[in-house]
Formats: sequence, structure tokens, C-alpha cells
Amino acid sequence: MNYPSPLSDTLLAVSIQEGLHTSRFGQEIIYLPSTPSTNAEAKKRAQAGMAEGTLVITDHQTEGRGRFDRTWWSSPGKDLLFSLIFRPPLAASQTFRLTMLASLAVAEAVQGKTGLDARIKWPNDVYIRGKKACGILSESAILNEQLDYVIVGIGINVNSTPSAWPGIEERTTSLSMETGGHVHRRDLLVLILQLIERYYSSIQKGAYHALKKRWDSLSLITHKAVRVESPGCTQEGTAASVDEEGFLVLIDPTGKKRRIVSGDVSLSLLEGLAASGNDLP
Ligand code: BTN
Repeated sequence: MNYPSPLSDTLLAVSIQEGLHTSRFGQEIIYLPSTPSTNAEAKKRAQAGMAEGTLVITDHQTEGRGRFDRTWWSSPGKDLLFSLIFRPPLAASQTFRLTMLASLAVAEAVQGKTGLDARIKWPNDVYIRGKKACGILSESAILNEQLDYVIVGIGINVNSTPSAWPGIEERTTSLSMETGGHVHRRDLLVLILQLIERYYSSIQKGAYHALKKRWDSLSLITHKAVRVESPGCTQEGTAASVDEEGFLVLIDPTGKKRRIVSGDVSLSLLEGLAASGNDLP
């Protein structure tokens, strides 16, 4: 594979927009050399009325957040840390569709740009060879019982070395660790934005089920024996599918169907996969 020079890998707006063929996503870009959290910044911008598709991106996040209020670790200048503003014509119960399209776009873009076998782990992770390389945090605001905006925040370990992060090295990886060479962040980002735009417009045209089929084909846990740890409860069973609202449908050992709203899934029953990545409790 031909690796472009890391020196040309800048995330400045002008550089991102150079090869970007979208009409909405990434048309407005807020690049911050350093910021506490792109999700927090995007939330402020959404509240101030910024348009759908606005991209907030940084080279250095000082208070990056993951699910369950965990810390999201990253290395300055090496990873992809960004958030997108959506103003979707969806019911609040359908917010998972955005996490779904984002994880699908990331997995496909990673496959396309690196040739790695990237897989989706419900609800919001992308894994490579059993280790987490990307996490997604979607946060929504509701106004008059409708979705006002949704912030979809994406963190991808691109060129960092997670083995330097205490306590999480065994369950976390980066794209460069897997390929053995530098991975161009801007090229990967441009492809992700293009896929997000395409899949978002498919959902709006009613093609959710076709997209869900694609997502299922990349899902790491479907039909596998899993353990799901949610705050205060651990459940085991076989992951059957993900339903319309994004809940995991688990068949428990007695054959009963259980719907799981959120949690950390591990395939430890079968394969010794760890539950989370660079987000420490
Ligand atoms: C998770 O796996 O728990 C989700 C991690 C999401 C991390 C990204 S990095 C960019 C954006 N800003 C944040 O503070 N979090 C998300």
C-alpha cells in the first residue's frame, strides 16, 4: 500500500474541503487546534443555530468523553476526533439510526482506505481483529417532543499507539498498529463524510431497512454468544439482532427474548473479546 506523507495530513478546513464531494456534511467546518471535547463544542454551535452537516474537528481533545461518562483517550495530532450536527426529521426513538449510519460509514471507510477487516460492535464501536479502534457518542436534544438536534461524535484511533495508555492497551488498537504504516487522516475523514451523507439521504428516502441489512452484515455480535454488562446488571445469551429502535435483542439461556437498551457487550463467552476500548470508567 502507498502511504502519503504524514506532513500533508492536516485537518484544516481548506484541506478537508479540497476533495470533499458533499452538499451538506463538512460544508461548514470548525477546526480547533485543541478543545475540551468536540461534542461539547458542537452542542454549543447547534444551540446557536449552526446548520445540519456542520463538522467540529480538533487535533487535540483535553476532556474527550465516551459513553457512561468515561474518558476518551487520544494522542494529539494523530487521531480523528470530530462531531457532526444533525437536525433529523426523525422521532426521538429513532436516534439510533444515526449511530448506525455513522458506524457503518466508519467501518466501510476503514475497509476502503486500509483494507482492514473493520467490524461493528453494537451499539457504537468499530473493532479490528478483536480490539476497539473507534467509538461513537450520540447526544440528542429534544424540543416540544421532537428531536431538535443530535450530535454524533466520532473518535478513531488512527496513528496513535494505545499501548501507551494505562490499563486499556489490551483491548484497544489503532489503524496504523494494524496496518503497520501511517494512515492518512484527512482521506479517511473525507470518505466517512461522503458515506454519512449518502446513508443519511437513503434513510430520509425510506431505505432504512437496506442500510440495516448492510449494518447487520458487518456486525460482530449477531448470532454470537455474548455477555452484556449494563449498570447494575449482567445478562448472557445469544445476540439475535438489533430492533427498529436500536435495542439489542438477546435470546437468554431459557429461550426468552430480552430487549437491551444499552450496555457493554463482550464476546468473552466465546472468544475472549474485551468489553470496551479507550474509554475508561
Ligand atoms: C465511546 O466509545 O464510549 C464513545 C467515544 C466517543 C469519542 C468521541 S471523540 C470526538 C467526540 N468528542 C467527545 O468528547 N467524544 C466523541
